[in-house]
Amino acid sequence: MKRHSAIVPLSHDHHHALILAQALKKNAPKIGLGSKSAEEKVEAVINSYNTELIPHFNHEEVLLFPLALGKDEELDKMIHNILEEHNKIRRSVEALRDGDLEENLDAFGKLLENHVRTEERVLFPKIEEVVGEEELNILNGQIIAVKDSCGI
Ligand SMILES: [Fe+2]
Ligand SMILES: [Fe+2]
Repeated sequence: MKRHSAIVPLSHDHHHALILAQALKKNAPKIGLGSKSAEEKVEAVINSYNTELIPHFNHEEVLLFPLALGKDEELDKMIHNILEEHNKIRRSVEALRDGDLEENLDAFGKLLENHVRTEERVLFPKIEEVVGEEELNILNGQIIAVKDSCGI
């Protein structure tokens, strides 16, 4: 199904998040960020977290999820789980320097990748189904892709 125009900017952010996640995993191709040291990758994660993930989570938590909650029991459960994952991602960023950096980066990359894929493959299609096109139109223009809104 084609993504509703109101949430296309979130999918745009997801594309960037997947590129980041890929570069953090142990088997990452040694190009771009993937070729950098663990220390440099940690810096990149913290920077992306502050400039991209925090505003992205806010768009989901403040704009999208409130519109979707309370309409369908299964969807409510999905959103509850996704919010738990946001908290897990926040805690993982805070703990990135605790212990083995390469292990932490690998785990964070997998966590972020799984989160994005769950939203793209399961949550967003369900939101589109339950909320419907007309109600999602309310959000048109309200959610702006983070890279576009920050000029980065
Ligand atoms: Fe999310
Ligand atoms: Fe997301």
